[in-house]
This record gives sequence, C-alpha cells and structure tokens, in this order.
Amino acid sequence: MYRAYGFPPLFLLLTLFLSLSSLPNPSTADTNSFIYGGCSQLTYSPGSAYESNLNSLLTSLVNSATYSSFNKLTFSGSTQQDVVYGLYQCQGDLSMPDCSNCIQRAVSQLGILCPSSTGGAVQLQGCFIKYDNTSFLGVEDKTVVVKKCGPPVSYESDLISQRDAVLNGLASGGGLYRVGGSGEVQGVAQCVGDLSANECQDCLSSAIGRLRSECGAAAYGDMFLGKCYVRYSTGGDHSHGSNGSSSSSSQQNQTSKTLAIIIGMLALVALIIIFVSFISRAIERRNSGGK
Ligand SMILES: *[C@@H]1O[C@H](CO)[C@@H](O)[C@H](O)[C@H]1NC(C)=O
Repeated sequence: MYRAYGFPPLFLLLTLFLSLSSLPNPSTADTNSFIYGGCSQLTYSPGSAYESNLNSLLTSLVNSATYSSFNKLTFSGSTQQDVVYGLYQCQGDLSMPDCSNCIQRAVSQLGILCPSSTGGAVQLQGCFIKYDNTSFLGVEDKTVVVKKCGPPVSYESDLISQRDAVLNGLASGGGLYRVGGSGEVQGVAQCVGDLSANECQDCLSSAIGRLRSECGAAAYGDMFLGKCYVRYSTGGDHSHGSNGSSSSSSQQNQTSKTLAIIIGMLALVALIIIFVSFISRAIERRNSGGK
C-alpha cells in the first residue's frame, strides 16, 4: 500500500492553476501585443559589418523612441553593401514612455523572429518597426500585410451606418494619426511618418476602401498596409486606439507579469511535488519488495 499524500495538494494546485489561467487575460488589448512580423529570406553573416550597423541602428531607434514617436535612420559602413535603413512609428496616442516600451518590445521580437535576416518588420498594437538593406524610406507601400474582419453584424443594425460615418471621418481627417467615433463604433488610422501628407491620404484611402469592400458588414476590421493602417471596432469589443491611458496599460503589464510569475511558481511547486511523490513511492515499493 502506498500513501496517497502526493495527490490532494497536486489536485489543489491543478485546480488553482486552471482557475488562474482561465481568468480573462488583462493584456489582450495591450499596447505591446503582437500583430504581425515578417523577415526577408536573405541573411547576413555573423560578425559582418552589416550586423554591427544593424545593431547600432536598432539601438538608435530604441533611444529615439524615448523622445519622438517617429524616426527614420540610415547607418552606412565603409562599403555600400553594409548600409542599413530603418524606421519606427508609434501610434499617435501613445505617451513617450509607452512608445519607448513598445519599440523595445518590438526590437526584441525582431531578434527572435528574424535572426540574421537582412530585413525585418514587426507591428505591435501600438508601434511599428522596420529595417532593410534596400531603402524603403519615404516610399509609399500599399501592399496588404494583414487583413482581419470580425463576424458580420445584422443589416438592420445602426452599426453599419455608424461604421461608415467613422470611416468617412477617418478618410476626410488630416494628419498622420486620426481617430473617430460614432455611436458604438470607434476607429483609428495611422501612417508611418516618412510619408508626405498626400501619400498618407492615398494610403489611408486605399485601406478604407478595402475595409469597406472586403470586410463588408463586419463588427470590426483591421487593414494593415505596408505604410499605413486603419482599424475600427464596435462597442468596446476588440477595442484599440484612443482609450488606453498610459497608467492603465502599465498597470495591465504589471498584472500580467505578476500572474505569469504566480503561474510559473505554481507549476514549479507542482513539479517538485510530483517528483517527491514519485521518489517516495519508488522507495516504498523497494522497501515493501524487500520484505
Ligand atoms: C542585401 O543583402 C543581400 C544578402 O546579403 C544581398 O544579396 C543584396 O545585394 C543586398 N542588397 C543591397 C542593396 O545591398
């Protein structure tokens, strides 16, 4: 007979673990949540001049994000082959601490996604960063990178006319960053800061036209083009954009970090208990086998 003391605490822990992990994740609408990333197929060799230029570029972009929501930079080495171009853009409503935090996160994502790639781009909820060895600075890019359409809403709903009013407002507003709302619908538009006013307008018009034609009567829509994006959402659901204050988002960060630490510790404790009960059962089995 073995003692079953390993099981009640383990069961308790599992219950705790499951109830904790089924809590609503507070960071889903967070500034730093991942939207997309992409890398060029070409790679540079480790230790190359290109690599050190790229590291300098990324460091400078991270530094720049502490005081500016946009910057574009070029780092050139001794030869034309070592030139690296890069830029970042934070969404217009981010505070400087949030922008800086977002760009830091985006750069670390680039390192994970695109090790040794000559080019890469990452879009998080609140910021965009891109680098390459061919210049794309000041070049309009209307390629669809990510399109997401929510479930359709019923046609009698006011939401579609509100959605259209929001998109019209975004289309006619000026500037690189635009927000709008009508009834339950909120919208946000952002161009990368290297576009001229006309190029930005052209890029946003294209994104808005695509949202209308490709998302139809969807409850929310995201259209990320190469150099601009337009997003709308309904009734706080899938919300993004203008309503997150910096204090609440850093608080959310803190909460999810704490939660992750608690879950990690619980998992560790559970592993130790499984290990100890395994060992003690093995010893007991050996002892009873010896009798
Ligand atoms: C970019 O890097 C790739 C891979 O090293 C290279 O083949 C290509 O010629 C580079 N492009 C430019 C413009 O330097």
